[in-house]
Amino acid sequence: MPHADSSLVPETIQSKADFWAHVYTQLELLLELERNWVTNLANASSVVYNSLLAFPSHFGTNERAVNWCGFYLDSCLFPPPRISRVDPIASNNPQASKLLLGPFCGKPACQFINTSPGKARGVCADAFLQQKTALVPDVDLYPGHIACDGDTKSEVVCPLILKSNDGNAEIRVLGVLDLDCLAVGGFDEEDKKGLERIAELVVKSCDW
Ligand code: SME
Repeated sequence: MPHADSSLVPETIQSKADFWAHVYTQLELLLELERNWVTNLANASSVVYNSLLAFPSHFGTNERAVNWCGFYLDSCLFPPPRISRVDPIASNNPQASKLLLGPFCGKPACQFINTSPGKARGVCADAFLQQKTALVPDVDLYPGHIACDGDTKSEVVCPLILKSNDGNAEIRVLGVLDLDCLAVGGFDEEDKKGLERIAELVVKSCDW
């Protein structure tokens, strides 16, 4: 099967529960071929984004479309540059805690999100620091929301939580999976549940 077909959604799928189960299976098959996180997060954002757009009974049509899907990652995961033209002392506080923009689908977005105590702001920082999914039906009512795209009306952000091998203890939060929608109330509890399973799958499919 061509890789692009991973994001097709058969017409027999009508409910959200079946939709998220289908996306999970497609992603599971795709991610088992590789463990590099850049590679897997790139395909994960594409499968989720394009599957949502291909599921018009709930998403994907004009003003209700999902307009962004991607990852922000703890800057600690990125190795320090081997060759840099920027003087680290002169550069703007390279040690600050932040989330960096990772693989995504959609229009350009902010490159980093501050997670330092007292300076953290926005839905992604909150989901990351609280280690809890943030379901935001109306971004204009969310204190501190960062508007990367003025057209976004609602958002859901799931933390990426690395667990111990037996799956019980939480080791650390690696970053977040973020989705935006052009409609108010674009995501519900069922989407939250489906995305949390996908976030878990993505974490366990990669070496970090
Ligand atoms: N709205 C997010 C910022 C990321 S963009 O939506 C892609 C936030 O408030 O953290």
